Amino acid sequence: MSRVELTDGIYWVGVVDWNLRDFHGYTTPRGGTYNAYLIIDEKITLVDTVKRGFADEMFGRIKEIVDPSKIDYVVSNHVEMDHSSSLPDIMKIAPNARIFTSEKGKEGLLKYYMSKWDLRTVKTGDELNIGKRTLLFITAPMLHWPDSMATYIKEDKILLSNDLFGQHLSSSFRFDEELCFHADECDILMDEAAKYYANIFMQFGALILKKIDEIQKLGIEIKMIAPSHGIIWKNPDKIIDAYLNWAKGVSKQKVLVIYDTMWNSTEIMAKEILRGVSDSGVEASLFHLRRNEWSEIVKEVLESRAVIIGSPTLNNDLFPPVSGFLTYLMGLRPKSKIWSTFGSYGWAGGAVRAINEKLKSTGNEPVEFLEVKFRPDESEMAKCYAMGQKIASMVKSA
Ligand code: FEO
Repeated sequence: MSRVELTDGIYWVGVVDWNLRDFHGYTTPRGGTYNAYLIIDEKITLVDTVKRGFADEMFGRIKEIVDPSKIDYVVSNHVEMDHSSSLPDIMKIAPNARIFTSEKGKEGLLKYYMSKWDLRTVKTGDELNIGKRTLLFITAPMLHWPDSMATYIKEDKILLSNDLFGQHLSSSFRFDEELCFHADECDILMDEAAKYYANIFMQFGALILKKIDEIQKLGIEIKMIAPSHGIIWKNPDKIIDAYLNWAKGVSKQKVLVIYDTMWNSTEIMAKEILRGVSDSGVEASLFHLRRNEWSEIVKEVLESRAVIIGSPTLNNDLFPPVSGFLTYLMGLRPKSKIWSTFGSYGWAGGAVRAINEKLKSTGNEPVEFLEVKFRPDESEMAKCYAMGQKIASMVKSA
């Protein structure tokens, strides 16, 4: 295995999971990575581990640099399994290693692994001297678990940000500057970063703005951001700016039509609404919920200014795929969107009312809604078209 060095004495010792296609429901067609970092100093320090099943590959990388039994410190930035589940393997090889984690991290590690490890808790501002270097800890509760934290290497100005600023993307490249040498690959990187933000962090926008502000007020310079997933940012401004925009709800002048259909009536409505939007000169996209990945649609929601959702009525309620998607989407609490709803029914309505109630329960009010019995007739098609035009006009002036 070849060594991957971030800078003198700091190594990537993670793994690439080329075959990862599902990350607890988040579809990952481009695979992913679990990034761990090894710092060679007077105290040999490992920051985070990898998902269980990949520990041997991580040990193989560590062995290229140092005997793993010589690890003195392990920093556990986050207890979630993709980062901590190889910790028991490390602690078998280096049983005297001291683990540094947040208060909530300690609670999680003790409960998950029921171990008697030497666990020390840290909080924002705490520092750990490991020889020539000093680690500064920055706790980040709810970004995205209560225990989450980041570790900043002061002398090298590297932020080991854990889940923040990550992407699910497998590649033989480790750094943005290698990937971004090819423009198409760079676009894919930002696309995956947006998808990751939308599916993991969208509901925490206010916390992200606060945390970035807090980090800026610490007065620390960040030369590199090394997250726990995907590509390492040697040019961190690009991803920090993207996070600031996403967290503020900045979106494109674009309308998204999301729907499912039983006997095509809702689909006919969806396409007529889309025609109304695009005839108004506004970009629009259409997504059938059973023919597209939900995690990809959620990324589109993040980037679009208006979202129009349609469902047929089944048993006086939402069509189940729409219900499931809405549960997922509303849990992510998208903000600053223009919402509109539509749908068709055979016996009695109910789906549109159910979508509207779901939207209202998360503080979002639909500006337009339309429900049609059986097939939309000529006048109802005109209403669909008019809905598209109205939403397009609102998007233009928002
Ligand atoms: Fe990558 Fe929250 O785990």
